[in-house]
Amino acid sequence: MIGQAARVGAIRAGALEDLADAHLRLGQHIEAVNRLELEATEQASRERLQSLLAVALYRAGRQTDALRVIDRCRRTLLNTSGLHLGTVLKQLETSILEHDPALDWTASPPSAGADAAGSDRPDGALPDPLRGRRTDPIGRNEELAALDRVLSSAEDGRGTVVTILGQPGIGKTRLADTVFQRAADRGFVTSWSRCPEHRSAPPFWPVTHLAEQLRRTGHVDEPLNDLEALSGVGGVEVFAFARQILESLGRIDRPVLFVIDDLQWADPDTLRLLEYVVSGLGSIACVLVATARPIDDHVDPAFVDCLAEIARVEGSTQLLPRALDVEHISHWLSTGEHRGASLEIARLVHERTNGNPTR
Ligand SMILES: Nc1ncnc2c1ncn2[C@@H]1O[C@H](COP(=O)(O)OP(=O)(O)O)[C@@H](O)[C@H]1O
Ligand SMILES: [Mg+2]
Repeated sequence: MIGQAARVGAIRAGALEDLADAHLRLGQHIEAVNRLELEATEQASRERLQSLLAVALYRAGRQTDALRVIDRCRRTLLNTSGLHLGTVLKQLETSILEHDPALDWTASPPSAGADAAGSDRPDGALPDPLRGRRTDPIGRNEELAALDRVLSSAEDGRGTVVTILGQPGIGKTRLADTVFQRAADRGFVTSWSRCPEHRSAPPFWPVTHLAEQLRRTGHVDEPLNDLEALSGVGGVEVFAFARQILESLGRIDRPVLFVIDDLQWADPDTLRLLEYVVSGLGSIACVLVATARPIDDHVDPAFVDCLAEIARVEGSTQLLPRALDVEHISHWLSTGEHRGASLEIARLVHERTNGNPTR
């Protein structure tokens, strides 16, 4: 009887996991959290359940809770059966701490092979822990050349800031991901953070994450200021904090690259702090790359001010990746599984998608 109950329980849990996986693929993170949270407390050693919940929480902007779920699973496994955490959860924990872009949700391509550029970015599913390197994005040679120049001048001790602005799906994150990899290959200390869409995110959210990564990798050892106390305070304190950050970065013995993805959602404290930080990058070996949606009528004025301040920084670069043209699409198709697709097909794809890689 107990055996049967356990079997039914396992089938139920499996179905729930499949359902949550489907929600994750559709970008319905909150729905996935709601479905999983209770079950996950009762089955704290069921690793797939826990990893789905951790990804859902992370995508919902609850990074700390996601890490807590993994830690609870680690302790439960150890206490109940003396086992260690599996590879998938261990890798997931690292990816969460590092804000690996592969964890972010992206819409599934409309048909098989649409993302045929060789991208192995998971289409919203769980990250592949053995994910290989990605190929360079199509049609972005100019942008990549500009980014390479920025890395070179940082290696010579002159840092700056680059913004990548464009509509959703145009390839901002992909470009930032590519420069992130290139910088890592060149020996930069790299760190990635993304601003959550949630209004309720704590102050200085992305800054906290960047600092956390630097501390974890042993590049910075001083503790962060009390950020709650700094929230909403006047310019002098924030300026002093920015100086402290620049000094810490300047002490690192290698060039540094930071990415802040989706800056349009940064909290106002972060934006104010960044205004000061970017003005001091010129004399240290540190590059900030920020991606954001273009300015429109709905954006926060603090974001507009921050972009204006960034534009004043010496050597700052604004990249505006454009829609892909027919030649790019044709090249893209020729490298994927639609090898041999005619120019006519490329034209049709261009017409249907307006050159946006996600459509
Ligand atoms: N130039 C490109 N070449 C190949 N794939 C691309 C390119 N630009 C974007 N993609 C793919 O399109 C999807 C959306 O791109 P992403 O960088 O997430 O857009 P954004 O950050 O601007 O919303 C991703 O799967 C990405 O890998
Ligand atoms: Mg993006």
